[in-house]
Amino acid sequence: MSTEPFERVAERFELELYGGVFERRYRKLRPEVEAMPWGTLSAGRLSEQQLLAARKAWTGAAFQEHRTGIACCATLRALLEARAPLDLIALAARFPLDELVHVELCARMAMELGGGTEILYDPLDVVVDASSDRTPLARAAELIVRFFCVGEALSIPLLRGTWRAARHPLPRAVLGCIVRDEAAHGTFGFTFLDWALPQLTAEERAILGPAADQAITAVRRLWSDIRNRPTTDRAPVDGDALAFMETEAYLTLAARAMDEKVLRPLRARGIALREFPDGAQRELRSG
Ligand SMILES: [Fe+2]
Ligand SMILES: [Fe+2]
Repeated sequence: MSTEPFERVAERFELELYGGVFERRYRKLRPEVEAMPWGTLSAGRLSEQQLLAARKAWTGAAFQEHRTGIACCATLRALLEARAPLDLIALAARFPLDELVHVELCARMAMELGGGTEILYDPLDVVVDASSDRTPLARAAELIVRFFCVGEALSIPLLRGTWRAARHPLPRAVLGCIVRDEAAHGTFGFTFLDWALPQLTAEERAILGPAADQAITAVRRLWSDIRNRPTTDRAPVDGDALAFMETEAYLTLAARAMDEKVLRPLRARGIALREFPDGAQRELRSG
């Protein structure tokens, strides 16, 4: 029998705006969203199957951005609890708003194509929090490694590749905005680590490798799912920018990004990964 006072049921991923003065204030914070060429996407030349694949891809992207927003908030709290440098925290305080904007952009792209598709999820089980038995600084470092040094660091080259593949002005504007924001997110993790690592004990540093491994494994699983998917289930490359994320070119870029933006920088900081257990001692494989 469950010990929780309520039943944990899957909820539908749906969004709303409150509107009025609150929406106007939000719009003022990020005026570029309304300036995008909404209403110009014609889905007419897509088959029903292709359209559904595109709607699914953008809805999935909106959900991923929502997850990242929660990850940014969890990290932000840990940074405050760890009393990280105020200017670093202030920079990270912008990230949740950025992610909310990305959620809206991706959700609106799905709407442009006919509407979002159904995603059921447990809102209380979106991200894994830091180990509870660690100091505030070690907890912040753990979350930074998992969410920023892996996920966010990877997102810069991958989103830039997706943005380059976009032809239509609307997805180009949407992805261009996301790419600009992500540039700051993607480098933040290593900036924080360079400040935090000298203050961590050897034992605290040792948990960062497995934390990174966990995030790396999750990302690799996602990529192998894409690779094994039959091509008939993939979105059309011309019809939707996100379809680039299901091509061989994307997977090649992804493997390179993992090496250059994640594995090498972590290893250079002496973090022992499953793939490079001896820290910075060994030469890296190339390619
Ligand atoms: Fe994002
Ligand atoms: Fe981000």
